Amino acid sequence: MANLGVNIDHVATVRQARRTYEPDPIWAAAMAELGGADCITLHLREDRRHIIDRDVRVARETVQVKLNLEMACVDEIIQLAREVRPDQCTLVPERREEVTTEGGLDIITHADSVRETIAQLHDAGISVSLFLDPIEAQIEAAKRLNADAIELHTGQYALATGADQTKELARLRRAGELIRSHGMDLHAGHGLNYQNACPVAALPEMGELNIGHSIVARAIFVGLQTAVREMKELIRQAGQ
Ligand code: PXP
Repeated sequence: MANLGVNIDHVATVRQARRTYEPDPIWAAAMAELGGADCITLHLREDRRHIIDRDVRVARETVQVKLNLEMACVDEIIQLAREVRPDQCTLVPERREEVTTEGGLDIITHADSVRETIAQLHDAGISVSLFLDPIEAQIEAAKRLNADAIELHTGQYALATGADQTKELARLRRAGELIRSHGMDLHAGHGLNYQNACPVAALPEMGELNIGHSIVARAIFVGLQTAVREMKELIRQAGQ
């Protein structure tokens, strides 16, 4: 059964809307753990629009499950990661004008900076996952760059419907097989929700799903602990 990483950025988005102290994403992390989260994921963006440095530092002190920091290959954030030492860093592309992460990292074009970032994080004892589109050449490049895991970008799958969605799922499956054949761990995320997560969770050897927006959205009505528990149950059923 795949592990569930709960992305708490959107709790911080509500806090930053007023630049106040509530709701605290650290509190959210604790509630997510109580609901059965296997991993807490947070994205420290360059513009600090939701998660701020303090959240990463306090999360390291308080989170008891795996801590996964999403980040771009930016010196200042690499240094913070090396100091705080999350269990895993997931490298993502980042553009200031985007609403959310749009598309996977292009590690062929940016091979040098990604190689250097992976080396620096490995040197601090941090495992590195790369957020990639399900493209064979990108996966082959990840192996050469010494990545530990690949998080497949499920955004296209999540947006597609009908036969197109079936095709996108087949792409994810083929990419997942290639990733595992190279001995890297298989993760997936972006745009997954209570309607579409199961087929991705059921892909062979799926290790981790990172889900944020749909869980936090549901939490407004049912509470975070319940929202996480419901997603865990779907993943459990998918794994059977
Ligand atoms: N994985 C990665 C690498 C992401 O950048 C995001 C969004 O921050 C997620 C997973 C979670 O996506 P969503 O909020 O759509 O569930």
